Amino acid sequence: MPDITLTTLQSLKQSGEKIAMLTSYDATFAHAASQAGVDVILVGDSLGMVLQGHDSTLPVTTAEMAYHVASVKRGNQGALIVADLPFMAYATTEQTMSNAASLMQAGAHMVKLEGALWLAEPIRLLAERGIPVCAHLGLTPQAVNVLGGYKVQGRQEAQARQMRADAMALEQAGAAMLLLECVPSELATEITQAVNIPVIGIGAGGGTDGQVLVVHDMLGLSLTGRAPKFVKNFMVGQNSIQGALTAYVRAVKDQSFPAAEHGFSA
Ligand code: KIV
Repeated sequence: MPDITLTTLQSLKQSGEKIAMLTSYDATFAHAASQAGVDVILVGDSLGMVLQGHDSTLPVTTAEMAYHVASVKRGNQGALIVADLPFMAYATTEQTMSNAASLMQAGAHMVKLEGALWLAEPIRLLAERGIPVCAHLGLTPQAVNVLGGYKVQGRQEAQARQMRADAMALEQAGAAMLLLECVPSELATEITQAVNIPVIGIGAGGGTDGQVLVVHDMLGLSLTGRAPKFVKNFMVGQNSIQGALTAYVRAVKDQSFPAAEHGFSA
């Protein structure tokens, strides 16, 4: 068992202490992140972009995810490990069960699925079988070709209403955590207050229960030379990666990150 469990995350939500989450894809970074006090490590399919150099997360396979989860498990010092089920790995019930099992057996403590209301059924089936699920709403990068780009989601009132309803339905279905990506800050705060499960944000303002960033982004590393608006470079003012990771955890916990400039308006 990790030191941080679902029960810990629930009590952090209830006490108002913010949850610090960060991606890691290998043992060394998982060790450094967990030593810095990161509560949750996300083995994200963002590895397709930052490790493999693809222009989207779509090429990533479950076997690749399992390899990175196993590496992270070996370096982790007590954080809860969440792993992404990659593109089309949960298109059918059979695929969902078998691919989620692979990631859990590799060392994940929870799996993350991107989507909307249609996730209710896979979430219910996984939760009933002992696999906690984080539902990822808002900008869902696996659907970039449907969304027409990496754009803020939930700006129109109808879209916002739907996202609020989806969040509550997925909690009812058994989701253990929600992740909101690129959602107007006000909407993300409303959703966080409407559900009892922890809500983690990225580009979703400071009103969520916690924050996540891609580790390469917050260390100022980029293949394109451009960082998204919601990213802060935590290497500034630090002379080591360990220092930057510790500064990130401190800033999430003392709520100095994200600042208003890292969020989006409706
Ligand atoms: O894949 C990933 O790293 C993610 C984060 C951007 C939230 O899903």
